Formats: sequence, structure tokens, C-alpha cells
Amino acid sequence: MDPGAFRFNPDLAEATTIPARWYTDPAMLPLECERVFGRTWQLVGHLGQLAQPGDFFTCEVLDEPIVVTRASDGGMHAFYNVCRHRAGAVAHGSGNRRALQCSYHGWTYGLDGRLLTTPEFDGVRCFERAAHGLTPVRVASWGPFIFVNLDPAAPSLEHVLGAIPAETSHLPLARMEFYKRVDYEIACNWKVYVDNYLEGYHIPLAHPGLYKAIDYRQYRVETFNQYSKQHAPIRATTDSPYRSDPDDGAGAMALYYWLFPNLMLNIYPDNLQINIIVPLGPDRTLTIFEWYVLDSDRSDTERDIHASFKFSDVIQHEDIEICEAVYARLRSRSYHTGRYSVTRENGVHHFHGLLCDYLQRGTT
Ligand code: FES
Ligand SMILES: [Fe+2]
Repeated sequence: MDPGAFRFNPDLAEATTIPARWYTDPAMLPLECERVFGRTWQLVGHLGQLAQPGDFFTCEVLDEPIVVTRASDGGMHAFYNVCRHRAGAVAHGSGNRRALQCSYHGWTYGLDGRLLTTPEFDGVRCFERAAHGLTPVRVASWGPFIFVNLDPAAPSLEHVLGAIPAETSHLPLARMEFYKRVDYEIACNWKVYVDNYLEGYHIPLAHPGLYKAIDYRQYRVETFNQYSKQHAPIRATTDSPYRSDPDDGAGAMALYYWLFPNLMLNIYPDNLQINIIVPLGPDRTLTIFEWYVLDSDRSDTERDIHASFKFSDVIQHEDIEICEAVYARLRSRSYHTGRYSVTRENGVHHFHGLLCDYLQRGTT
């Protein structure tokens, strides 16, 4: 598999889509793990999981085991969850501890990664304890979210988020708390799902309910360096749970962002919904939906979130049906590449350009 063989055309009007084999060839995913997921900020958790000094949680960025900690001085850290002795796990699940202990031979590490104790290790020569701390991983937060990046040379999270923090600064995102998670597994390549999210072109036929709720003519996708933004004005007469009351002012507008490669942020005035798209294999994708709310104890939160969930669940099942049908056909011997609508598919073209940039970097 040589992703360098495809030439991305930055001119949307003349460009062809990435090759069908990029979706179906099993050799593609290891390359994407290394060059795309291994070089970008990945959302792994939320600040509620690190509320107290000593709190930690484990997670994975595709095939890499990671542990994220809150040290006693309040600092947030992330490390590979790999013991420096013989690669045991230094943490399991989540919890609160004064130190992390490897479950294999009992080496202990501080929550700041320093190697603290090495039982029965006397007599070992040329061994510097200070040089055997846990291997750090870059970690940063924005709003309630914690991100890690496996690439020491990647641009900062702040740089990648661009204007998003400023555009959402009127909303109390940092105070929003995790409320609910719902997972869906889809029989398609992860890029099929992302492509589909990035265009409104399919809304009239695939999402009749959503089509009625939004002003399709004004639906636009704007692209930026590493993210894109969708504008979907909501009709005043809609029965959707999305607020469109003009009396609420500009703050009532819903904001939809996609962050390369696999994160979607759907931001409303009093709640947030995120989607994380995780490849499980070349032909299986996990989509994680999480809701964050401002006041989880409010009596009508459950009702509001349930309405939002029901609306998004219908749309998600409509999208799953499409993505699975498309994925089955990307394998067809009749199909190799496609074209983009200039008015409707600039977001998909933008994604494909970023993908080529990351996959082809250093290969030509
Ligand atoms: S592998 Fe961790 S203590 Fe041996
Ligand atoms: Fe859709």
C-alpha cells in the first residue's frame, strides 16, 4: 500500500476523491495509526475524571495504552502505560492513588512519572533510577476535555483549535459536566463515517426529519487549517430539541465543528454533544456519542437530553444505513474514485487533503 501514489488536487472543482482502496485495504489502518492518529490531538477523557490530586484513568489511543494522572501538586500528566522494567501495566481502569504500581513485579512510579521503588533490584549495575521514569505523552485540556498527542513535534492543541475557543467563549464550556455516553458500532471504514458527517448533501434524501428542521439552502461548511465548521440554521417552527429562539440572541446558535481527524463537537447554549470516531479495524468503526450538560442535577436535564438523544439516534441510524451500504460498494470492482459537489462537499475535500498531507508526509 503506497499512499504516496495518489495526487491530491487542491482545486475542488477538478479534484477526484481519495481512492476506494484507501477505505478497504487492511494495510491502510496501520499507516493511519502511525501517521494520522499518532500525530494528532486525541480526546481521551474529561476533567471530571481528574478532579482530585491522585486521580488517574487509563485509556488507549488506538493501539497505545496511556495513563493520565493528576499529581499532588495539581499538575496534569500523561504517560505510556508501560512499565520501564519489562513492559507491564502500571495502571488499570481508574481511581485515586498516591503512586502507580506495576502489576507485574511491583515497581512504583509517582503520579508525575518518577520511578520511586524497584523491589529486589540491588546489585544491578549502570542503572539510573532517574532515567527510568514513565515515558511522558503530551497532554492538554480545553473546556471539559482532556486531549493527548503521541507526537512530540505536533503543533500545540491551542494552535490546532484555532478560533474555536474564541468563538465559544460566551459559553461556559469548562463548567459543563459529563452526563451520558452511547456507543454505536458500524460496519464501515472510519473515513466513510467522517466523509458522511462532513457534508449536508445527503440530508434531503437520507434525513427527512432533519431536512424539515433546518434551512437546507443556507447550510454551509467552512474549512480552516485543521478543522471545519458547519452552519445549519434551524427553522423557527421545528419540533427538534435544538433551540432556535431568536430572542436568545446569537448565543443560541448551534455550532458544529469537526476536528481532524476524528472528533466532532456539537455545541449548544446549555449542552455539548461530542462524537469520537474510533477505527476498530479496516471495516469496523466505533462511534462514541457523549453528552455534557451545565447542570446535571437540574430536574429537566434528563428530559432535555433524552429529547436530544432521540433526535440524534434517528439521524445516527439513518447515517449507519448509508455508511454500511457505501462501504459494501467501495469494494466493488466497478468503483475506484469519485468527484465532489463544489457547493456541498468542500468539507469532504478538505478532509481528504489533510489525510493526504499526513499520510504522504515523509514518504515522497
Ligand atoms: S514489568 Fe513492571 S515491575 Fe516488572
Ligand atoms: Fe447524516
